[in-house]
Amino acid sequence: MATTKKGMRIGILTAGGDCPGINAAIRGVGKTAILEHNMEVIGFSDGFTGLINKEYHQLREEDLSGILTHGGTILGTSREKIFKKDSSGQKADKPKLIKKHYEELGLSALVIIGGNGTQRTASLLAKEGLNVIGIPKTIDNDVWGTDVTFGFDSAVWIATESIDRLHSTANSHKRTMVIEVMGHHAGWLALYSGIAGGGDLILLPEIPFSENVITDYLESRAARKKPYSIVVVAEGISNPSKENAGRYIANLIKKRTGQETRETILGYIQRGGSPSPMDRILATRYGAYAVELISKEKFGFMVASIADKITHVSLDEVGGKLRLVPEDHSLIRKARKMDISFGDK
Ligand code: F6P
Repeated sequence: MATTKKGMRIGILTAGGDCPGINAAIRGVGKTAILEHNMEVIGFSDGFTGLINKEYHQLREEDLSGILTHGGTILGTSREKIFKKDSSGQKADKPKLIKKHYEELGLSALVIIGGNGTQRTASLLAKEGLNVIGIPKTIDNDVWGTDVTFGFDSAVWIATESIDRLHSTANSHKRTMVIEVMGHHAGWLALYSGIAGGGDLILLPEIPFSENVITDYLESRAARKKPYSIVVVAEGISNPSKENAGRYIANLIKKRTGQETRETILGYIQRGGSPSPMDRILATRYGAYAVELISKEKFGFMVASIADKITHVSLDEVGGKLRLVPEDHSLIRKARKMDISFGDK
């Protein structure tokens, strides 16, 4: 057992929406810190709220046992935006308070597990002088600077299994089945689960669609004696109606084609439950790597996976950017050749 940084005390928090794999990452951070580096680990409750209110507890090795396979986060999370101006336009004192508590607790570093917004907050806290390491997580897979976030693989599994289950009703009733999956800005989940689940029409926020193309495509499938169609819709597609994206598309299809159409809104099911093996491994590797960086006193970085290698990128570079699906993504190009439509041509 190495004893590089005896006496170091590090903090950890989880912020933003939960996703499968967060506990695996907490365990990766905690076990590496405690067992390999003799560090003390402090877990803050409910994201940045715990740092603001000084709500925390020590994470001992035994607290990290049995959590690898559990969904959600043992620390709790929140969408507390510490740098947001209040209604009077004043910047709140929350960052100052966080810095004060960080210093009072004698922390050497803070590990921040979160998605895009959280990584931006992490980069701003680094600018305030805190030793910060970010770990990217989200089912949306849209964190800039890394090829993949944990949570995504699990969500693709859940969404794919759900699409698989729609095929039997679609075929038995000769219906068009619409399923809405998460993804406000990025369509990674719709793209991957749509392709894996045999979707015929896949609508992504990144690809503007035409209502005419959608109806022509579904009518041409019916004319070619295709017994049913599966439509996968990302929640963030442009949507002039006040309904959910899935319902909007289903109503459009019903009205314009007369096809018997049903919609399913997958919702939070796709964010819950046990992480996939790939997410457990990725989260474990991210967590362990975060502590390696701390042990080398390298701060101001986000852990990343680039070309299947665990590495790090500057939080400065990451903050505020989104990783969207490129319109010419190889999977999209391939799918188009197999008569899968993206509603645009
Ligand atoms: O975690 C990302 C995400 O799942 C988005 O796809 C979704 O729109 C959003 O979180 C909703 O989360 P909440 O309702 O918890 O704010």
